[in-house]
Amino acid sequence: MASILGFGGYVPERIVTNDDWAARLDTSDEWITQRTGIKRRRFAADDQATLDLALEASRKAVADAGMEPADIDEIVLATDTPEMLTPDTAALVQHGLGCRNIPTYDLGGSGCAGFVQALDVAASRIATGTRNVLVVGVEVITRLISLEDRSTAVLFGDGAGAVVMGPGPGRASVLGAVSGTDGGSAEILTLAAGGTRNPFNATTLANGEFNRLVMDGRKVFVEAVRRMSEASLQVLEKVGRSISDVALVIPHQANKRIIDAVTSKLGLAEDKVYVNVHEYGNIGSATVPFALWEAVGAGKLVAGDLVILTAFGAGFHWAAAAVQF
Ligand SMILES: CC(C)(COP(=O)(O)OP(=O)(O)OC[C@H]1O[C@@H](n2cnc3c(N)ncnc32)[C@H](O)[C@@H]1OP(=O)(O)O)[C@@H](O)C(=O)NCCC(=O)NCCS
Repeated sequence: MASILGFGGYVPERIVTNDDWAARLDTSDEWITQRTGIKRRRFAADDQATLDLALEASRKAVADAGMEPADIDEIVLATDTPEMLTPDTAALVQHGLGCRNIPTYDLGGSGCAGFVQALDVAASRIATGTRNVLVVGVEVITRLISLEDRSTAVLFGDGAGAVVMGPGPGRASVLGAVSGTDGGSAEILTLAAGGTRNPFNATTLANGEFNRLVMDGRKVFVEAVRRMSEASLQVLEKVGRSISDVALVIPHQANKRIIDAVTSKLGLAEDKVYVNVHEYGNIGSATVPFALWEAVGAGKLVAGDLVILTAFGAGFHWAAAAVQF
């Protein structure tokens, strides 16, 4: 069975508060707080990009596992905001960390569900003989979406999280995972420009399409609550456990109201659900591994604790994993 051997997380230093947004756009701390629970978020420094954040979190995870980069046998990296279009950010992490010439993969476009899906993929790679897999979730969302559109800009932040996984006993065992996709809902949350259908060019630039994140917030909200709740229960059933066994749920951190609705649907007490969205906003595929690293570092997870990781994002994709400390 695949285990988690080390945890890492990183957010850039620059803090952008709701009042900073209110000074720039037609919005307010009150609106953002009431609708999302977000109070502040981090922005990558001008000289930072996705690779820098991924390396910071990865180095911590590798050291936390008591390993050297040479011990890593594979890298799976989830991001919707890669360092560049090609090659994959995972290849750049392989070189930047100083790993051997191991295989690397980006899991791109899974939105905020990417890390939990990557964890699922890594667990199956380990089941078929791969040893130590570095799994990363990283985003520099604030660089690729319009900072003039108040309906999306205020929701997001930048950050990274990582785990090292391997076979045999570790700090926590991945008991099982479930994932699902509804590609028919793609247009509800999409950044359509920059691919082959609608390449970056003078027209997309003139129309402001190149960085326009199109989102039907209400539909995303409803589906996020439904899918994360269902996936959590499905993975518990898969591993033969029940919601009353769960010590902590770490859901994707998009919006406090979404988290509250999932908490209520699962019938959980508030203290059994991890929340840091007020501090960091939505950091995409990095929310779950970053929160996991934070929770472990704060001593919130001890041996015996059953933890559910669950996430939802563009696609739509959703996933959940059951992790036994
Ligand atoms: C986006 C979201 C916060 C909007 O909250 P909401 O309660 O659905 O908002 P409503 O649709 O009731 O209100 C929208 C109104 O607020 C306005 N508005 C949008 N962003 C605003 C902002 N930052 N400040 C002030 N007003 C804003 C809109 O223009 C609209 O005004 P109108 O009614 O005059 O047209 C919410 O739908 C949400 O969080 N959805 C999920 C989004 C998400 O998590 N995406 C990532 C998924 S991984």
